[in-house]
Amino acid sequence: MESTSRNRFRVSTLSCVCASIIVLVVVSTMIFDGDRGPFNFFTDFSVFKLEPSISVSIVELQAKFSTSVRDHPSTNNANTTAVIVRKERAEEKMERGLAQARALIHKAAASHPNMSLLARDHQGLKESVYHNLAVFYQSYMEMEKRFKVYVYSEGDLPMVHNGPCKDIYASEGRFIEEIEHGAKKFRTSDADRAHVYFMPFSVTMMVKFLYRRATANREPLSRFVADYVTVVSAKYPFWNRTHGADHFMLACHDWGPYVSRANPLLYNSSIRVLCNANTSEGFDPRKDVSLPEIKLYGGVVNPKLLHPPTDNSSRPLLGFFAGGLHGPVRPLLLKHWKGRDAHLRVYEYLPKNLDYYTFMLQSKFCLCPSGYEVASPRIVEAIYAECVPVILSSSYVLPFSDVLRWEAFSVQVNTSEIPRLKEVLMSVPEKKYKKLKEGVKAVRGHFTLNHPAKRFDMFHMILHSVWLRRLNLRSR
Ligand SMILES: *[C@@H]1O[C@H](CO)[C@@H](O)[C@H](O)[C@H]1NC(C)=O
Ligand SMILES: *[C@@H]1O[C@H](CO)[C@@H](O)[C@H](O)[C@H]1NC(C)=O
Ligand SMILES: *[C@@H]1O[C@H](CO)[C@@H](O)[C@H](O)[C@H]1NC(C)=O
Ligand SMILES: *[C@@H]1O[C@H](CO)[C@@H](O)[C@H](O)[C@H]1NC(C)=O
Ligand SMILES: *[C@@H]1O[C@H](CO)[C@@H](O)[C@H](O)[C@H]1NC(C)=O
Ligand SMILES: *[C@@H]1O[C@H](CO)[C@@H](O)[C@H](O)[C@H]1NC(C)=O
Ligand SMILES: *[C@@H]1O[C@H](CO)[C@@H](O)[C@H](O)[C@H]1NC(C)=O
Repeated sequence: MESTSRNRFRVSTLSCVCASIIVLVVVSTMIFDGDRGPFNFFTDFSVFKLEPSISVSIVELQAKFSTSVRDHPSTNNANTTAVIVRKERAEEKMERGLAQARALIHKAAASHPNMSLLARDHQGLKESVYHNLAVFYQSYMEMEKRFKVYVYSEGDLPMVHNGPCKDIYASEGRFIEEIEHGAKKFRTSDADRAHVYFMPFSVTMMVKFLYRRATANREPLSRFVADYVTVVSAKYPFWNRTHGADHFMLACHDWGPYVSRANPLLYNSSIRVLCNANTSEGFDPRKDVSLPEIKLYGGVVNPKLLHPPTDNSSRPLLGFFAGGLHGPVRPLLLKHWKGRDAHLRVYEYLPKNLDYYTFMLQSKFCLCPSGYEVASPRIVEAIYAECVPVILSSSYVLPFSDVLRWEAFSVQVNTSEIPRLKEVLMSVPEKKYKKLKEGVKAVRGHFTLNHPAKRFDMFHMILHSVWLRRLNLRSR
């Protein structure tokens, strides 16, 4: 369904100067192994997590967009010809640069062993956890060399240019923070030279300030987003040029996908970076990006997770889970395993005297079932704890799965296998377990949050996912 709409898109825009989408050209055909399994889905759950909402009167939304931004050159008629010439040159130059990047990535694939050795020896990257390390490494380096993001300045605090840096939706705020105030290398203030355009609104903040729990009315959130797109598409030429295909939004809140429906192009054409990467809800891995979820109590990673035990220390427990009865998968897990087994510890609410992170550090496997939405912060916590994640979800596109081989560092158990969970985990041979654990250690850096961000860390991997989608988009 998505692909038809994208094709329709291409046809209707052929006559203007705009981008057409060539679905999955070069890079991704090499990077996707084509073995992303079929997704099954649950059909009769549509529960949403409710955030505590602060009641604030809804101000005139249009007034939220600041008007003091400097005029864009294209709206300034002083020397139009020169501006147009300059813009065309910039655009051509950018497309040439992207074409070069694609060619170099192709080449890296061909000279695979050399490039992988380089990545291994210089960066300590481990070949077995990537679909193709040479391709990833070359693509990453091209991103560092070229990639430029333009961040729209429209909109005001607290709902734009700002997001939650604590608790369950922290990935949203941390990315916005980093792109707004760090990451200078990847930002450009010259919108004509940008590869992608970021709309820095925060869905979590909108829920906090615009959503009224009493009426359960989410309409103001949609209106805010629709207005945002209207404003930037009227003021700048960029949105119309590609019909939003080189624009991205980012949301960790469960309602990210819902809010993106406010504008049909935002939903169907833009890059949506979402924690709630549920293919049954229209998440399209060819253009959308799966965002890792992490829960930061007090805004920091728990210190216990920063220093996982050495390899020779024993992990006495087979597996661990503690969490509420949320969403479609956990009822199954709790029904079969809650309080049942001394080695497979499954709790609904952890007794006060027991420590969640200590359990993770003492377990070989950490169970990561979906909750109200597909992503689980446990996946990132498990990777921090060097506990092999056990993915229990359906229709979930795992973060960075276009680059990483999840089977090299996690176990995916079909939710229909939950009754046999212990048997499944027990049947993983010791040798295989060791390999998985080495895999977890090898990808740990990619799931690590740093402030400021460091090369190859979570921020850079998210950006790299966006870069890959931009590479797949070609002008004219
Ligand atoms: C999970 O199991 C069900 C039932 O056995 C099957 O229909 C489905 O295809 C499986 N899903 C995956 C992702 O393997
Ligand atoms: C416009 O810019 C060009 C190139 O910079 C310059 O030669 C020309 O004099 C300018 N024209 C006006 C009207 O400012
Ligand atoms: C790989 O490296 C070797 C030695 O550095 C070089 O001779 C060879 O041409 C390289 N191969 C490719 C395909 O780049
Ligand atoms: C982009 O298209 C919209 C809708 O067609 C239009 O209202 C807007 O003025 C256009 N933007 C620019 C900068 O021309
Ligand atoms: C996406 O495109 C399809 C096909 O054109 C359309 O039916 C659907 O309504 C669009 N989605 C949204 C959220 O606008
Ligand atoms: C465990 O491994 C660490 C480093 O890997 C080493 O320093 C330590 O001596 C080892 N301890 C035992 C009991 O083998
Ligand atoms: C994924 O989306 C489908 C369709 O809306 C929904 O039934 C399912 O519950 C979602 N999965 C989770 C874990 O939320």
